[in-house]
Amino acid sequence: MRIDILSLFPKMFDGPFGESIIKRAIDRGLASVFVHNIRDFTHDKHRTVDDYPYGGGNGMVLKPEPLFEAVESIKEMIGDSSAPVILLTPQGRLFCHHVAQELSKQQNLILICGHYEGVDERVRNYLVTDEISIGEYVLTGGELAAMVVVDAVVRLLPDVLGSEQATKDDSYVNGLLEYPQYTRPPVYRGWEVPAILLSGNHQEVARWRCEEAIKRTLERRPDLLAKAALSEEKRKILDRMKVEREV
Ligand code: 6GU
Repeated sequence: MRIDILSLFPKMFDGPFGESIIKRAIDRGLASVFVHNIRDFTHDKHRTVDDYPYGGGNGMVLKPEPLFEAVESIKEMIGDSSAPVILLTPQGRLFCHHVAQELSKQQNLILICGHYEGVDERVRNYLVTDEISIGEYVLTGGELAAMVVVDAVVRLLPDVLGSEQATKDDSYVNGLLEYPQYTRPPVYRGWEVPAILLSGNHQEVARWRCEEAIKRTLERRPDLLAKAALSEEKRKILDRMKVEREV
């Protein structure tokens, strides 16, 4: 997968993409990420990327010309005129695991980081194919949101994590929050690791994890359970827990 990011602050990306799993994925050639400065697609002496809003009001608006030129030049460079062009904006559809999965199937992604009071509406209408928000709050710009999207998408690509197994128990993948994890020591400050986990009985461990995942989801995110496509076994466990809670 190739990801091209358009930003007014390309240096912001050095940290997140220069460390850990994402860096390793890039170094191994599993994903390539290019960050472009929107200012490089201006032609005037002051490299102007924004202007006052027509009709007045607060703040500045990103001009259409540099964004259109940047996207068109990237599409030409990668030889994919129909690559998805995603605007990061609080007005976009809400990002979630399902959207990350959908994006992870693309060959190319072009991400535009919005800024200031917004972007000229013609960018939305005639350049962008999708708009994404990472939550119901407002950030100063789309950069942090783009980093979140890239991280969540790249970790789903084949071979980025150790094995296919690596994401299967992730929170949100199977509609449940993840079960509790423990590592050594078996007793820390008097707090014991649940005995089942030390038992070596894989079937019992699997059963315990399944129950704990359901319990945790019921406590913290009952809304997820309403939507989850649970197996018959899990549905039974859930129904029993609900009954136990009522008494
Ligand atoms: Cl994608 N951009 C900005 N500026 N704020 C946000 C956001 C995006 N998602 C949530 N808040």
